[in-house]
Amino acid sequence: MNGDDVRSDAIEKTLDPGSDGDWASLRALGHRMVDEIFDHLQGRRNEPVWQPIPEEIRKLIAADPIPREGEGAAASYERFVTQILPFGIGNTHPRFWGWVMGTGTAEGVLAEMLAAGMNPNVGGFDDSATMVEEQVIRWMAELMGMPSGTSGLLMSGGTMANLIGLAVGRYAKAGFDVRAEGLQGGPLLRVYCSTEAHSWLKKAMDLMGMGRVALCVIGVDDHYRLQVGELREAITSDRAAGYRPVCVVATAGTVNTGATDDLSAIADLCATEDLWFHVDGAFGAAAYWSEKLRTQMRGLERADSLAFDLHKWGYMPYDIGCVLVRDAEMHEAAFATGASYLTAMERGPAAGGIRFADRGIELSRGFRALKAWMSLKALGVNAITAVIEQNVEQAQYLASLVDASSELELAAETPLNIVCFRYAGASDAQNKEVLMRLQESGAAVPSGTVLRGRFAIRVAISNHRSRREDFDLLVQTVEQIGREVIAEASSRR
Ligand SMILES: Cc1ncc(COP(=O)(O)O)c(C=O)c1O
Repeated sequence: MNGDDVRSDAIEKTLDPGSDGDWASLRALGHRMVDEIFDHLQGRRNEPVWQPIPEEIRKLIAADPIPREGEGAAASYERFVTQILPFGIGNTHPRFWGWVMGTGTAEGVLAEMLAAGMNPNVGGFDDSATMVEEQVIRWMAELMGMPSGTSGLLMSGGTMANLIGLAVGRYAKAGFDVRAEGLQGGPLLRVYCSTEAHSWLKKAMDLMGMGRVALCVIGVDDHYRLQVGELREAITSDRAAGYRPVCVVATAGTVNTGATDDLSAIADLCATEDLWFHVDGAFGAAAYWSEKLRTQMRGLERADSLAFDLHKWGYMPYDIGCVLVRDAEMHEAAFATGASYLTAMERGPAAGGIRFADRGIELSRGFRALKAWMSLKALGVNAITAVIEQNVEQAQYLASLVDASSELELAAETPLNIVCFRYAGASDAQNKEVLMRLQESGAAVPSGTVLRGRFAIRVAISNHRSRREDFDLLVQTVEQIGREVIAEASSRR
């Protein structure tokens, strides 16, 4: 019996292709898609890093009415090729170094397709997708030096992974049952971080109902590392004021400069003060995989909870972040609800419960674990770690080029994979102009930040496609644009 026979007297509707012929043409289109997306990746170096979306395409998309009738997969793919693919942010390109974005891997592209084909709901049932996610969590815990039995969850990214870690910490250390009583149940809870902590924390504090009033922001030293002495004093004076310190959020690789707090000292302090030690290692934690780089991450393995992204310095396609929680029971206690329709059964797919739903906020979840599992299996941790080390060497190389240039100046130290610099002698506004022209030129995409009140061009290298020559080109182009901007400004005077 072929597909045509099945459809000929069928009255039920389906969204699957209608006949064998339809399946064949969709399959052929799928093969073309694989070929063309790989062509795209292979050829990225020869294209602009970023280009603005042309006005006519913006208008076309904005004016497109709801497609009540389908136009077919081939036609919608053509639109993708012409209207969408060329106008991405650019992070697959060897000279994309903006914010902290990963490049993705070719294997990851395929894994995403397979995950969608299998389409499991990874709430944590007794199925193979759960088995794979548990495996990835085990590998991650081991790679981060955390003990076996560490709990974890794959999430959409660092923001969500950090939120989960902080929520478990609050539950564990509040001293009253925050889940039952809300924040009314006790004194003002205090969370500590440095001025360099990422903005996810402010959102988490808002969302968790604690508010900014509960966030104590500690100053940093000359190396942008949290001042541990100031932290100790703040904890003491908060206790004296009747507040309850619950958690310190330390950063392994700050978003601005790649600085890492003194994690061992903070771990010691948390142990003495009975506080939850959370580490935000969104990108920096991946440096722990390298024996060479691990020294500056020491203490990370002592975290009560650790959040990091695999879509940043793990080079896996968006989106995938991970939270690890040392105390598995505490992790579950902070989220499990015991809903009757989700309870564990003795046998069948719900045997053992819906474990991932009990470790976070989401119930239905996608099969993110597959791209991590396949990337690690296909490439191996050693190859990924070698590129992480290469990125750090490239950052040092770029810093040396900036140092050697009479036109540029470093704006901060380069402890990891981030280089911040300025066109020397130019104002903040002119440096910003240099950055925007550079981005618009399509030659390279760094981003910007403000360090000690001054604007800096910021190059964050979590890119497995970059080569040394790319940094040579960056420096030459910035120097050239800088000269133009300065010349234009003096001609206006
Ligand atoms: C240190 C740090 N923490 C948290 C985040 C947020 O991670 P995500 O963008 O994956 O949500 C970032 C993002 O760059 C980061 O650099």
